[in-house]
Amino acid sequence: MKAVVYFGFFVGVALLLMRCGSAAMSEPIGATNRPLMSEVDSTEFYRVKLGKHLFYDPILSRDSTISCATCHVQELAFTDGLPKSVGIRNRMVTRNSPTLTNVGNRTMFLLDGVNPSLESQVGVPIQEHNEFDFHVLLVIDRIANNPTYAGWARKGYNSEVTEFVLKNSIASFERTLISDNSPYDKFIDGNYAALDNGQKKGMELFFETLNCTECHSGPDFTEERLTNNGLYEVYADSGRMRLTETEADRAIFKVPTLRNIAVTGPYMHDGSIETLEEVIKHYESGGHPHPGKGKEIVPFELTSEERSNLVRFLEALTDNDFLTNPAFRVDY
Ligand code: HEC
Ligand code: HEC
Repeated sequence: MKAVVYFGFFVGVALLLMRCGSAAMSEPIGATNRPLMSEVDSTEFYRVKLGKHLFYDPILSRDSTISCATCHVQELAFTDGLPKSVGIRNRMVTRNSPTLTNVGNRTMFLLDGVNPSLESQVGVPIQEHNEFDFHVLLVIDRIANNPTYAGWARKGYNSEVTEFVLKNSIASFERTLISDNSPYDKFIDGNYAALDNGQKKGMELFFETLNCTECHSGPDFTEERLTNNGLYEVYADSGRMRLTETEADRAIFKVPTLRNIAVTGPYMHDGSIETLEEVIKHYESGGHPHPGKGKEIVPFELTSEERSNLVRFLEALTDNDFLTNPAFRVDY
């Protein structure tokens, strides 16, 4: 009987994955998507190597004090643990730093999804007043003056350091940030003992009983729907409307991935919710009224045991191999 329930579950999960596959057909995660890092000396190897070192190098910021990694820390699944990030000279950024877990699978970037490519996203923090407050051309000068970097650019692109080299190399590194070995992934791969009974019950709540997968579905628990989850009645952040200037886009945000969610708090675009338990309570309340709010955000009630099972399922999305993978650091 139990086996049948789990099998049904597994099929349900598989169907969800397939549904995503047919929709946007984002690149599958896993081995097939990995750059061929084993081919040392390949152009891809030097592209990723250059991008990784630039990701960790503070020369990208005007006063050379912070790097991408200041706000995207590996052990925190490339977030920074703050409600809102802090740029050079302690300038406050208006938003919470998002995880870069499986960011190569995304098709739109920034919390409101206004940026269309990982390459163009590299330019954003460089020029943002509250982040690096610098200029792409000046960054390129600095990189070109570093003989090691210039050498890797030559090997990776047969080119000197250009804006393309800067953006493509960092994006190439970001595309290696693949997480697919959480207990949940092991379960999906057929290791039913990877989740305990509480986590399995939480998984059932997530996939079958509650509305979570209306928004958080697919291999990364997001199909990048643009919506609103009823955090406030009146938002300080206008969301996607800042680009489109359309009232219907007010406080509309991209549905975030839930991979590694247990280590990426505090939560939401403004870091206003500290714990996963409080996030669940927010959804239980049905949220605040908002014209853009997804119709699936409706009140429901959980016992404290159910709530804790759901949190524990979300914790099963933590991939410790990803958080500690030496290939994502520069110190080896
Ligand atoms: C001062 C902190 C800070 C620095 C430095 C920083 N970021 Fe970010 N990053 C953020 C915040 C905050 C956001 C969300 C911004 C928004 O939505 O407007 C973000 C968004 C992103 C995203 C979009 C993710 C998604 O799923 O939409 C990527 C990719 C990214 N950053 C990569 C980088 C890279 C590469 C660098 C260095 C070139 C960098 N960041 C430097 C804080 C920072
Ligand atoms: C109508 C779509 C929708 C539904 C249904 C939904 N969410 Fe969300 N979720 C979002 C959006 C949009 C955000 C980002 C909001 C923001 O940044 O202000 C979000 C954010 C989150 C976050 C925080 C992510 C982060 O990185 O800060 C968690 C955790 C979460 N949701 C879990 C759930 C769970 C569990 C359920 C089911 C009970 C659920 N969501 C149902 C749209 C939805």
